[in-house]
Amino acid sequence: MASPILASGIGATRRGDAERPVVPRDRVRSMAARILVVDDDPNVQRLLSYTLRQEGFEVSVVSDGPEALKAWAAEHPALVILDLMLPRLDGYAVAQRIREDEGAGAHVPIVMLTAEGDVEQRIRGLRAGADDYLMKPFHPAELIARIRSLLSRFAPALEEEPAAPTGGILAFYGAKGGVGTTTLAINVAIALHRDAGRDVALVDGNLQFGDHRVFLDLGLDRKSIVDIVSAPTIDAELVRQVMVRHDSGIDVLLAPPSPETAELVTPEHFPQILEILRSTYDFVVVDTDKRLDEVNLRIFDAAQAIFVVLTADLASLKNVRIVLETLSNLAYDRARVKLVLNRSTAFTGINVKNAESALRHRIDLQVVNDYRGAISALNSGEPVLEGRPDSALGRAVVGIARAIDAEREEEIAR
Ligand SMILES: Nc1ncnc2c1ncn2[C@@H]1O[C@H](COP(=O)(O)OP(=O)(O)OP(=O)(O)O)[C@@H](O)[C@H]1O
Ligand SMILES: [Mg+2]
Repeated sequence: MASPILASGIGATRRGDAERPVVPRDRVRSMAARILVVDDDPNVQRLLSYTLRQEGFEVSVVSDGPEALKAWAAEHPALVILDLMLPRLDGYAVAQRIREDEGAGAHVPIVMLTAEGDVEQRIRGLRAGADDYLMKPFHPAELIARIRSLLSRFAPALEEEPAAPTGGILAFYGAKGGVGTTTLAINVAIALHRDAGRDVALVDGNLQFGDHRVFLDLGLDRKSIVDIVSAPTIDAELVRQVMVRHDSGIDVLLAPPSPETAELVTPEHFPQILEILRSTYDFVVVDTDKRLDEVNLRIFDAAQAIFVVLTADLASLKNVRIVLETLSNLAYDRARVKLVLNRSTAFTGINVKNAESALRHRIDLQVVNDYRGAISALNSGEPVLEGRPDSALGRAVVGIARAIDAEREEEIAR
């Protein structure tokens, strides 16, 4: 291929080693995990035993600290639910002893049960070695969600399996506002799902003024990235719960509902969240903000391809030049940066050749001008790919998605 759409690496990363003996995922799943419940309140014991058994876990119940240590040593539970106020030896001491005694590399997840609103208890418990906490009274569904996420985080057997090729991260970046970045990110995401049959996550990276809710007609009350970053631990189960399924079949991670809450998301959050999404989806499409700030640079670091969207006007070209220079100064591989000329057929007096020579970079992709289609899609909340897939804009986007997908296939085959 003369000009690859994706530089390299999409689908190429494989964890695990094919030579190593592995436990198939099905086997791991079919073995019922044993959970050790440590609580002296018979009501809590009953509730936990019932709920956990309903979920298919094996359960052992003990009522005090020394019994807990004995059961932990004898039964090797997959997880411990630990009340902090226990007779004879309290929960803090139990957690501490478990952490001291378990061998290097071993780590049994511990969920502690704390009194509502007692921050000090929670901090002490986490310091003693607990991984997560649940406040009494708790909802059984929340307990199960936390247990499952801890089990998947710490399950050693799952690390042994040869992971499926992980998906590709595609960043869409507009060097100037209003050039069509969101329109392209959303529609390429939908085309990758609809046309290429891929599992796709779409991330609204415009933290302060994300508009995917409007473009996709999703209400304000939906979950957002804030629900992920404000949780005590970020894991795949949590991310899965926060993704919002759009009618087109793609899953969307929405931006914070208000500019104030955007501050809760830090640059460090992105690599973590994107890696989780990448392990779950074939493609992760990120619609980024205009700023060349730390958040965006982290997204670019993680991405296999950065699609810089522009229009053929002087202001846009000037910004793209600055962006290309900045990325080159930061030692980004130029092959990862793809220029997408949007509204390429709009008359602006600047043609593709002029733009390429001004930028000293080839225009990799072009998308036709289709103002009516684009604006009516925006105002109806029905993306072009949904409402008018056969329009000129729809076809252009499908073409881009096919090229991206074909290249990923090549990467996997290599
Ligand atoms: N190919 C196209 N042809 C015609 N109009 C388009 C095209 N792509 C996008 N538009 C229109 O351009 C406007 C801006 O699009 P969009 O919101 O996607 O841009 P953006 O770069 O994400 O903007 P922002 O800076 O607000 O994030 C919208 O009205 C959209 O309908
Ligand atoms: Mg936008």
